[in-house]
Amino acid sequence: MSGMEILRHIVVFIHLIGFAVLFGAWLVEAVARRMRFTPLMNWGLLIAGVAGIVLAAPFGVSYELNYAKIGVKLVVLLVIGALLGIGMGRQRKNGSVPPALFWSVGVLTLLNAGIAVLWR
Ligand code: HEM
Repeated sequence: MSGMEILRHIVVFIHLIGFAVLFGAWLVEAVARRMRFTPLMNWGLLIAGVAGIVLAAPFGVSYELNYAKIGVKLVVLLVIGALLGIGMGRQRKNGSVPPALFWSVGVLTLLNAGIAVLWR
């Protein structure tokens, strides 16, 4: 494996940690029936987002990157960020997140993971 390939795999690893942190933090709230947005979700989104943008650069690959797929993932990530921002604001004001906002974050996070793995 070349240095660039190793570097890419390390960034994919970091990207996956971001996904795990975001989805894990969300799942804990869903299973506990608390349905709150927590700061850990923002960290997961930030980690996945920064690593994802790095992965959008074509280093350490011998094939063409799928930029339609990467663009859709970026849009989904920005929507998740907007929902987290709006939900956190509501939570501060009313003490709870509207259920549609809460469930959308989980569904959109899984959607991005599904797109990552299934869209080739
Ligand atoms: C919540 C947000 C996201 C989730 C859950 C997510 C999930 C994943 C997962 C599970 C993989 C591994 C699949 C594989 O290697 O085949 C992956 C890879 C990748 N993601 Fe994301 N992702 C997210 C956001 C983003 C964003 C915003 C971008 C770019 C703007 C991005 C770009 C990429 C790229 C380029 C790869 C392929 C890595 C490679 O093959 O070298 N991701 N993502």
